[in-house]
Amino acid sequence: MKVGIIGSGGREHAICVALAKSKKINKIYCFPGNAGTSEFAKNVNIDIDNFNEIKNFVTEKKIDLIIVGPEKPLVDGIVDFFEKNNIKIFGPNQTASQLEGSKIFTKKLCKKYNIPSAKFNIFENIEEAKKFVNEVNFPLVIKADGLASGKGVYICENKENAENAIDEIFKGKFGNAKNVLMEEFLVGEEMSFFVVSDGKTIKDFQTAQDHKRVLEGDKGKNTGGMGAYSPSRLINDELRKKILNKIIKPTLTALSEMNCKYKGFLYAGLIVVNNEPYLIEYNVRMGDPECQTILPKLKTDLFDVILACCEGNLSNLKIEWRNKKSLCIVLCSKGYPEEYKKNIIIDNLKKISLKENEYIFHAGTKINENKIYSNGGRVLNFVCLSNNFKESRAKTIDLIKSLNWSNGFFRKDIGYKVIDE
Ligand code: AMP
Ligand code: GLY
Repeated sequence: MKVGIIGSGGREHAICVALAKSKKINKIYCFPGNAGTSEFAKNVNIDIDNFNEIKNFVTEKKIDLIIVGPEKPLVDGIVDFFEKNNIKIFGPNQTASQLEGSKIFTKKLCKKYNIPSAKFNIFENIEEAKKFVNEVNFPLVIKADGLASGKGVYICENKENAENAIDEIFKGKFGNAKNVLMEEFLVGEEMSFFVVSDGKTIKDFQTAQDHKRVLEGDKGKNTGGMGAYSPSRLINDELRKKILNKIIKPTLTALSEMNCKYKGFLYAGLIVVNNEPYLIEYNVRMGDPECQTILPKLKTDLFDVILACCEGNLSNLKIEWRNKKSLCIVLCSKGYPEEYKKNIIIDNLKKISLKENEYIFHAGTKINENKIYSNGGRVLNFVCLSNNFKESRAKTIDLIKSLNWSNGFFRKDIGYKVIDE
């Protein structure tokens, strides 16, 4: 089989590495991929917003199946487009992708189907929104509706913060805004819960916890993710059942009542309060860097999972996992998430020989005349698996140090909640 992967980050490199192990696959294309994927796949430099151009390439090369990594093409309807053209594609359609594409869609769905989540209000103009912040308790959470790469969320400590958030959102900082969402602030611990579905059956796809802030101790600006570990320390059988029965299943029922089947990965961002799960957000894809952290634990052929979802027979497949503690640290360009330099050579990469349970996934890299250069803020993802998080983290840090990249920085405290210092 020939497969195509859409995306260019660490998540897509991890998917590419997992698929390259499958005996059923003889050719992988990445649209557009990065220096890491180019080792296993043919990188194709096509604008991923141009569905027609991708389709022409897929048809010409007789690619059997497309896998979508990031959220934007899903929210823009890439799955509907390819299915209309009778090409197999793994990911949710445009209706289902509203779970990530519109926070207001999801909040309304939660309310209608009694899914536990923070209490909320929606305001359609600045005046009403500002009037409301005179009457509430703080902290208050204010969110822009659409995709904002994790940036459209404000945790407001006081009225001034809230007014500033309302102004920024309505002035279009995150795209044209018709409304703003305000939520009660939930106090608890976060956890990410993943499932995969073929539209009929859902199967667990592990838990994880990421670290979004740039500085140690979870301080500083939000980023795309500085590291992650899997499993989450919070998961237990009772909590798992509650997440499935109170959150995931009612969500899929709600979608089926809209005549929509959910096919693909679904990622629930939760806050757990006294072993009770509350939904904070949905993502309609694997997390990044959670995907890089989770996939090395997968024993089953990833392609079997994906094909079963596309062919509607996931119920017949047993997904097996290695019982390991996996930890990922992201090596970033100095300055990230603010200004940073690109095109800095990473010259020791080829000298590192990875041992069993050690992985390096490329995120923001590119290759030029056989040399690898940085090409983004989050550059490389280092992942190690072992029987305990402390050992996994120590090995990961050793691996980063062996690269000795002078333009890089990373958080040394990833997983601090699950590691006794
Ligand atoms: P989101 O993009 O909706 O996941 O929000 C980004 C981050 O803001 C989450 O990972 C949480 O840390 C935090 N957050 C969002 N909504 C709430 C809430 N209602 N209560 C507490 N924290 C929240
Ligand atoms: N790690 C957060 C995300 O993928 O959205």
